[in-house]
Amino acid sequence: MTTIALRDLTKRFGATTAVDRLTLDVRAGAVTGLLGPNAAGKTTTLRMLLGLIRPDGGTATVGGVRYDRLPRPATLVGAALDGSQAHPGRTGRDHLRVLAAAAGVPDSRCDELLDLVELSSAADKRVGGYSLGMRQRLALAVALLGDPEIVILDEPTNGLDPAGIRWLRDLLRGMADRGRTVLISSHQLSEIVRTVDDVVVMAAGRLLIHRPLAELTRDAPDGTAPAAALEDTYLRLTGTVAR
Ligand SMILES: Nc1ncnc2c1ncn2[C@@H]1O[C@H](COP(=O)(O)OP(=O)(O)OP(=O)(O)O)[C@@H](O)[C@H]1O
Ligand SMILES: [Mg+2]
Repeated sequence: MTTIALRDLTKRFGATTAVDRLTLDVRAGAVTGLLGPNAAGKTTTLRMLLGLIRPDGGTATVGGVRYDRLPRPATLVGAALDGSQAHPGRTGRDHLRVLAAAAGVPDSRCDELLDLVELSSAADKRVGGYSLGMRQRLALAVALLGDPEIVILDEPTNGLDPAGIRWLRDLLRGMADRGRTVLISSHQLSEIVRTVDDVVVMAAGRLLIHRPLAELTRDAPDGTAPAAALEDTYLRLTGTVAR
């Protein structure tokens, strides 16, 4: 089943074409990794998908519907984008409660989530005093508020400690195994290789490949480890794209 569908999605900023006729279907029941160099257009793609910016061309839909037309978006899609910020003067708990109320989610869910992301002991501290990893955990809690079918995370392991990375990997795997759609962007190939089922590589706004990780490994020379197969493919593809 396809749950995220991009068709000829295009976004320009002045003379820069950030996303260039991107067509992509992201399947349910899998973790998909969105990879690409800095300025490839990953965050811009996710922002269009979430209705935060308007495409110049093409469409982005979740479950066949544009995000801004979803009746209760939090229960279908949860997202944590690069740079999504909480008000620094609010506590983590308050931040979560405000968003929960807006999404029609009960307060009790906030405490459950603070526990899940291991922020309970810092829940009553101001977000302004949170470390990078703590802010990342809070953003994850926000993404999971509505127990969504589709989870979209921009560089979620950024700032997480090794235990946090493993915990996140297990969480995403569990969600995919329960049939959910998980789309994550990342630069950490060594991490991605342990987390994703499908690999998408983009550069200069264009799609370069979309394949199961197992196929990349299968097609590599005998004895190539999955991490090396992914790295070789990624560097070969992105090395030829002019910035
Ligand atoms: N609001 C904006 N105004 C002007 N240009 C923008 C804006 N947002 C993105 N861009 C440009 O669009 C291109 C793609 O940026 P984007 O943030 O989508 O890349 P990315 O793949 O997420 O990169 P990174 O790996 O560094 O996060 C870049 O050239 C960037 O400068
Ligand atoms: Mg980005």
